[in-house]
Amino acid sequence: MANIQSLRGMNDILGDDSELFTYFVENASRIAKNYGFTYIETPILEETALFKRSVGESSDIVNKEMYQFIDKGENDVCLRPEGTAGVVRSFVQNKFDRAGGTYRWYYYGPMFRYERPQKGRLREFHQFGCEVFGVSSVYEDANIIMMIKDILDFFQIGFKLQLNSLGCPTCMPVYRDKLVKYLTNIKEELCEDCNRRIETNPIRVLDCKIENCQKLLYNAPKITNNLCEKCDTDFEKLKEILDFNNIEYEIDTNLVRGLDYYSQTAFEFTSSEIGAQSAIAGGGRYDRLVEFLGGRATPGIGFAIGIERLLELVKIKEEKKDVIYLGALNEEALNTLTQIATKKRDNTKTFMEYTPRGFGKHFKLAEKCRATIVALVGENELNDGTIYTKNIKTQEEKTIKLEDF
Ligand code: HAM
Repeated sequence: MANIQSLRGMNDILGDDSELFTYFVENASRIAKNYGFTYIETPILEETALFKRSVGESSDIVNKEMYQFIDKGENDVCLRPEGTAGVVRSFVQNKFDRAGGTYRWYYYGPMFRYERPQKGRLREFHQFGCEVFGVSSVYEDANIIMMIKDILDFFQIGFKLQLNSLGCPTCMPVYRDKLVKYLTNIKEELCEDCNRRIETNPIRVLDCKIENCQKLLYNAPKITNNLCEKCDTDFEKLKEILDFNNIEYEIDTNLVRGLDYYSQTAFEFTSSEIGAQSAIAGGGRYDRLVEFLGGRATPGIGFAIGIERLLELVKIKEEKKDVIYLGALNEEALNTLTQIATKKRDNTKTFMEYTPRGFGKHFKLAEKCRATIVALVGENELNDGTIYTKNIKTQEEKTIKLEDF
């Protein structure tokens, strides 16, 4: 009988990957907490209607990529393709919209999209996301962008930031009509997908990946030239704050995002080092979404980082990589080692070998643990209150006072 394999596009996270994964989540969570975010966890399975109403019926995610089924109680449910919709549902369900005030929540966990798997594109992937409710100031938009930058900087990841404004219910419909007029004139030359989208979701035509379509769109009306006064002022202010903070960005008027709930600010962070699937984070403002999901009008903004894509770029910082191996050269040293291990584990990964052995054997075992520091205690060390250490990276050996270790 053939062994059972994990499903296509769905991976186990183990070994070095799991170490990186937890390292990322711990540090991204720490940064989010410093920005005032608290943790929220919502179910992985939700009613299908939730995503139809938020992400949008004409989006690829809802149209083609949902893991959707009827459960035993005849409910139409699906595995969440993204995190925002569930968080907004929870916000409304728990009546935070009625209470008013400001809420900042972060989350991480698996998302599911039935896409064609390739490098950087999985069917089960993980996001780290943040959502803010109740703040309409454009300073929050800047704050969110600066926080993503802080996370990427911590992991020493280079990025490009693309920025756009998608307008509001005052200016977007006027712009959409202008765009449809333009697109209808060049209809015959556009691809099949674009033709379908002119009817269903004309804004999405702007982000067609086909070269010929992109050429034809070159002279299309630009949303940023068609913003109402409020959206225009906000967008200019956002650029000003980012400039003031030396955050580089590029305006991309074709950046429309694949989810329908955005208005005003939309952004994407990309990396040139991970191949075609280059988006490492994306997000924007969604001031109408709470209302779409039955709540009292409340402004919202957020983002999500694709953890797997990011991990390709994360290198654990050198100092974090220290791993200590503790070994006893005789039975009597073991008790002392248990004390040292407890202290060292406050901030360093520490292995302790329970069987007393000679030098050579200890070094072999230390290599298996990928230790960077080998520390041994035997009779002489016990008598002198010292410990023998060897730094594997520098090959430096020394015997030092226990309290200095
Ligand atoms: P999104 O752009 O669809 O936005 O996804 C965010 C990130 O998830 C992407 O930039 C990418 O890194 C990662 N990602 C998406 N699909 C895949 C995949 N198939 N395989 C691996 N990684 C993937 C959202 O999901 C919004 N909920 C973000 C947001 C939060 N907007 C406001 N709040």
